[in-house]
Amino acid sequence: MAATSTDAPFTPPDPAEALARLGMPMEEAMRTQRAVRRLHLEPVGHDVLLPLLELSLKAPTSSNTQDWCYVVVEDPAQKAELAKLYRRLYRLFNPIVERQAARDPDPSVLRGMRPGQWQAEHFEQLPVFVIPCYRRNLKHRPTGHPQISVSSFYGSVYPAVQNLLLGCRAVGLGASLQTLPIWWVPRARKILGLPRAMTPACIIPIGWAKGRYGPTTRRPIGEVVHLDRYGNQPFA
Ligand SMILES: Cc1cc2nc3c(=O)[nH]c(=O)nc-3n(C[C@H](O)[C@H](O)[C@H](O)COP(=O)(O)O)c2cc1C
Repeated sequence: MAATSTDAPFTPPDPAEALARLGMPMEEAMRTQRAVRRLHLEPVGHDVLLPLLELSLKAPTSSNTQDWCYVVVEDPAQKAELAKLYRRLYRLFNPIVERQAARDPDPSVLRGMRPGQWQAEHFEQLPVFVIPCYRRNLKHRPTGHPQISVSSFYGSVYPAVQNLLLGCRAVGLGASLQTLPIWWVPRARKILGLPRAMTPACIIPIGWAKGRYGPTTRRPIGEVVHLDRYGNQPFA
């Protein structure tokens, strides 16, 4: 689908100015980072993207294995393949999510799905995808217990992902962590040419933000924090 003629022309910021915004107060970045799905379709320069990727990799990994890789997808043919995969999954699963949202008494729940629809329609036009992957190895199965293996596997990817999302937020890029577009992992692996042991954890579409950042709405701390034992919630 082509960009609509109503899209206002957008000039990406100067890379040095954008990167200088990494000095944003940490609290502001954490409070306002959110899933930004409406993106300008202009390219994101490597001079901005690569420093963000490098910073994101300051994250911890299980036993410091650092068995990660980022596949950065910019090639139109590759993006088209990913969009084809995403739309198949979106057509299957989105109606279920939409039906649930339509039943919600809060109309903002259904409204909140519009940026996701916009993204699904424009997927191959989005400037760049970052696909964080991790290699499954013996360290992820120390006891053979699936829960330990799963947590040390995904726990070695998502800290870097959150760093990247925060970095994007600071410089003015819109980004969101998504898993649905690559739920069919073997197909995603094939498109990306990944070896079998390398598993894509999620996909992060990135572009200069058109949508708005936070503040985000989250459950209050008193509801979430338990002191010493589950059920003891003195902060509620
Ligand atoms: C593990 C995980 C998977 C997600 N998968 C998707 C996805 O497939 N598609 C999508 O649009 N957003 C996805 N998200 C983004 C969440 O929907 C989003 O972070 C959440 O609704 C909060 O949005 P907010 O930060 O804008 O408040 C995912 C987030 C996480 C943590």
